[in-house]
Amino acid sequence: MLAMKYDIKVNNLRKEFQIYRKEAGLKGTIKGLFKREYSTVRAVNNVSFTIERGEFVGFIGPNGAGKTTTLKCLSGLLYPTSGNVSVLGYEPWERRREFLKRISLVMGQKNQLWWDLPAMDSFLMNKDIYEIDEDTFYKKVDDLIDLLGVGDVVNIPIRKLSLGQRMKCELLSSLLHSPQILFLDEPTIGLDVVMQKKLRTFFKDFNRRFETTVMLTSHYMDDVKELCKRVIIIDDGVIMYDGSISNLIRSHAKFKTISFVANKKIDRADLDGLGEVVKLDDLSGVLKVERDNVPIVSSKLLKSFNIEDLNIDEMGLDDVIREIFSKG
Ligand SMILES: Nc1ncnc2c1ncn2[C@@H]1O[C@H](COP(=O)(O)OP(=O)(O)OP(=O)(O)O)[C@@H](O)[C@H]1O
Ligand SMILES: [Mg+2]
Repeated sequence: MLAMKYDIKVNNLRKEFQIYRKEAGLKGTIKGLFKREYSTVRAVNNVSFTIERGEFVGFIGPNGAGKTTTLKCLSGLLYPTSGNVSVLGYEPWERRREFLKRISLVMGQKNQLWWDLPAMDSFLMNKDIYEIDEDTFYKKVDDLIDLLGVGDVVNIPIRKLSLGQRMKCELLSSLLHSPQILFLDEPTIGLDVVMQKKLRTFFKDFNRRFETTVMLTSHYMDDVKELCKRVIIIDDGVIMYDGSISNLIRSHAKFKTISFVANKKIDRADLDGLGEVVKLDDLSGVLKVERDNVPIVSSKLLKSFNIEDLNIDEMGLDDVIREIFSKG
């Protein structure tokens, strides 16, 4: 059989929620007992995309955009209103055993381990649930303990662990059955920058080593920049962009930054009309310049000042994303 190219195929996925509208106050409550008024929230609105085996895709968008809802539909926790979804050839919401054994959904906001028990007890339960044989299980646990650097932490009740330690245990637990597809929903939320960096390294290695297909949502653009070549941007349930990060920046960033170092002091007035002065110290400065003006501005800088060093950079992913979302 030919290897499947796409691990995930989503076609016109839509998910609506009926929400009950209650009028304020006691009167509203009483009224609601007799006549309930509902309204529809369209959380995911005709979304389509495909993801190949081994891809690491960033799935980003502002709060309430529909990211978690989409991931829940893909992992079989929610039944879609309409559309087709195929994950590893399965319809997720059938929640077939063979399907569940090959995927994992990690939610940074939600605790999936038993609060009062050490993580190891939860791992052992997963061993049974996922029917992992004894040898494979202990090898995998050792391997992941090493990779994540958790050691003895797995023997301490979850409620006593720090957020970072707990998150690592959550991850370990979700990876025990060696899922082919990993849905990571804000896995680094609330972690300090050092821990975020560690987890990023872990995700990167994991994806390379096992050719795991990963969809990652995160509000930290560092996660996305470092891990994903491709991003899917969703806003208000609709996909606004699907493509490489570099193309996104090229097509959306109207500005570039020019950083320069001179060997004589530059006055702010000298830079009038060249662009927005982002930073200016005695000898160095940063200008934000419209893309098309970059050649002219750089040559003006070089002509007018004693420039020792000049760098032209694209705007960062953070800036671009902020710009896109603020346009609404
Ligand atoms: N069970 C539910 N019942 C009613 N509305 C829901 C339900 N789940 C989600 N929604 C609504 O659907 C929309 C999308 O929510 P979702 O959680 O998918 O957003 P998100 O992109 O994950 O946001 P965030 O970045 O804040 O996690 C929101 O308006 C949310 O209020
Ligand atoms: Mg969410």
